[in-house]
Amino acid sequence: MKAITKHKYGGPEVLRLEEVDKPTLKEKHVLVKVKANSVNPADWHILRGKPFLARFAFGLFKPKDPILGADFAGIVEEVGQGVTKFKVGDRVFGEILGAAFAEYACAHEDVCGLMPDGAGYTEMACMPIAGLTALQSLITYGKLKEGETVLINGSSGGVGHFALQIAKAYGAHVTAVCSGKNVDFVKSMGADKVIAYDKEDMHHYNELHDLVVDTIGNLDYDDYKRIGKRAVMIGFTTLGHMISVVVKNTFSKFPFTLFTAKANTEDLNTLAKLIQEGKLKPHIEKIYPYSQIPEAIGYIESMRTRGKVAMSWEV
Ligand SMILES: NC(=O)c1ccc[n+]([C@@H]2O[C@H](COP(=O)([O-])OP(=O)(O)OC[C@H]3O[C@@H](n4cnc5c(N)ncnc54)[C@H](OP(=O)(O)O)[C@@H]3O)[C@@H](O)[C@H]2O)c1
Repeated sequence: MKAITKHKYGGPEVLRLEEVDKPTLKEKHVLVKVKANSVNPADWHILRGKPFLARFAFGLFKPKDPILGADFAGIVEEVGQGVTKFKVGDRVFGEILGAAFAEYACAHEDVCGLMPDGAGYTEMACMPIAGLTALQSLITYGKLKEGETVLINGSSGGVGHFALQIAKAYGAHVTAVCSGKNVDFVKSMGADKVIAYDKEDMHHYNELHDLVVDTIGNLDYDDYKRIGKRAVMIGFTTLGHMISVVVKNTFSKFPFTLFTAKANTEDLNTLAKLIQEGKLKPHIEKIYPYSQIPEAIGYIESMRTRGKVAMSWEV
């Protein structure tokens, strides 16, 4: 099968489109004929082996897994022993950190969900990492309730534009933070109030919200306390910033969470249901052919994506 591979750490230029062995089916796993993928910042972190600490998980001197990619959507071609959730022919979407940019992916059934009828593969390939992170930041960790106010920093990006729509679907009042060029975009996603960070300094913003979700990680711990009754941080800009937030949090009673999203069927099915009900829709800024996955990775690394970037094995 064809796959996008990396044999050393580096930028998109180290990626190769190669023939590799089809993955071997394992117990509780499904073999998926991949139709589409999407790119996430996690892909370039893994590709570059940055931050360095990540290399303890992904290979100290060179990548352990040759294939890149996490988010996929496709059709179940074979099911392994003990699989109970899916059958051959099911259309599924899910996340496997490190082996999805290939014609076939082997995924544990617990990190897959069923695609809704009528949904497209590129659309569903955009959902796993960004959609799960948005859902878990608001609901699992943010404990968002109907009628509450939530401020979403970075609301035009992959995670942010899903968080905005999910918060609205759960009946929250949303303040969206983005650059001036994305104001109309986040309004079209349902934002009740918009702050352009290039016109208003967020470090001096004062309005209190029930919840702050920071997808960028450029707000300070004191900002979270000033503008939120509780806060969830998803992304981080520098290691120094993250350490400062974690240290300040150690000595504080302020309800703050920093988390890494985990894929599970229940949450994937919640996203699928929101899509089916018309309450959630990925905005796909670009769709690349699989042969241009290096360009897609380069684009996402610029941190300027509006919504999501997808790749199709069919264009
Ligand atoms: N903890 C987890 O489990 C988890 C999961 C997924 C992602 N993440 C992390 O979360 C972050 C966001 O991920 P993503 O997929 O949403 O990335 P993304 O789609 O690449 O984010 C791009 C967006 O960020 C916006 N942005 C850039 N600088 C900004 C700033 N200073 N203030 C507000 N918005 C800004 C850009 O809008 P403008 O062009 O308008 O600035 C753009 O729309 C990344 O650092 C990623 O590594 C963490």
